[in-house]
Amino acid sequence: MSLPFEIRRNPNPRNDAEREAILANPGFGLHFTDHMAVASWTAADGWHESAVVPYGPFMLDPAAAVLHYGQEIFEGMKAYRQADGGVALFRPEKNAERFQRSAARIALPSLDIADFISSVEAVVNVDRAWVPNLAEQSLYLRPFMFASEAFLGVRPAKFVTYCCFASPAGAYFASGLKPINIWITTTYTRASRGGTGAAKFGGNYAASLIAQQEAAYHGCDQVMFADGAERTWVEELGGMNVYLVTTDAELITPELTGTILEGVTRDSILDLAADHGLVPVERRISIQEMLDGIAAGTVTEVFACGTAAVITPIASLQTEHGTFTVGGGETGEVTAALRSALLDIQYGRAEDTRGWLHPVL
Ligand SMILES: Cc1ncc(COP(=O)(O)O)c(C=O)c1O
Repeated sequence: MSLPFEIRRNPNPRNDAEREAILANPGFGLHFTDHMAVASWTAADGWHESAVVPYGPFMLDPAAAVLHYGQEIFEGMKAYRQADGGVALFRPEKNAERFQRSAARIALPSLDIADFISSVEAVVNVDRAWVPNLAEQSLYLRPFMFASEAFLGVRPAKFVTYCCFASPAGAYFASGLKPINIWITTTYTRASRGGTGAAKFGGNYAASLIAQQEAAYHGCDQVMFADGAERTWVEELGGMNVYLVTTDAELITPELTGTILEGVTRDSILDLAADHGLVPVERRISIQEMLDGIAAGTVTEVFACGTAAVITPIASLQTEHGTFTVGGGETGEVTAALRSALLDIQYGRAEDTRGWLHPVL
């Protein structure tokens, strides 16, 4: 039986003027809509107490396991205002599947694909007026699950809380698309085989913060991680996957070995490649090969991809040994074309031949 997300309306929602003021300049992750979906899980009863309730704080016992051992997973996805005025999610089943894989890795209970999607739909539906209308804006959705049991033993929690809330998001690049500079860290790694790299697990992000600080220290916008074992192979950024474009018209991304997050955007780009005359390739690529290719001109473009920033051109890759500027530091043609193609599908401006859009009715 699927979980019902009955709506208990917020008695004090923001009025139209307050909402419009926020939507005029939403930024990212700063404002939250009037409702959220919640559900509880216990080992004895499974999932229950599901509802859409007013957005607000949780009551959490100081001994809640998540506060001590970090048993938490999350997702990130968006609702897009369509060219025809409707609202759609993009491949939500992919996020639902990944949420199940993350849950399995972190010993949290599985939430059915249908329940995950209906919780997200319920929030978008009730707070539909919060889906921005402006170009490249969207309603960011944050489903997550954590160990709420008050118990200090180290074992999987028997009480778990699920929640999905929404946050209007402005254009990622407020002043237009800007290529970013990447620091390749050799000090820190993000994941290793058998670890949690492929899960969207809060601890991965906590562990990446210091590497991001290292990147900032070197004047870079983002950090790129190499594999944990050999520190040789390109993995990903702290919150985005990576692609290389070559003079052979190959679109190369590191293969999934259990240490990289399986991005929905990454997967969509693999599928779009052929439309742009490119051969999608998933394989190991070493940092040295990437940097040599950039220096020799055989790697013409490098970009990062993820739900938040869609496709982000990379201007340069920097290491202790120097700076490697990609394609003159400008946005490459392939990067720009793939970005437009993806955005056109997400915003309903192009025909959705792959059935990727999930209208929220
Ligand atoms: C570590 C990491 N890699 C890649 C991605 C990109 O994934 P997606 O395209 O599903 O947003 C994300 C963002 O969710 C991430 O956190």
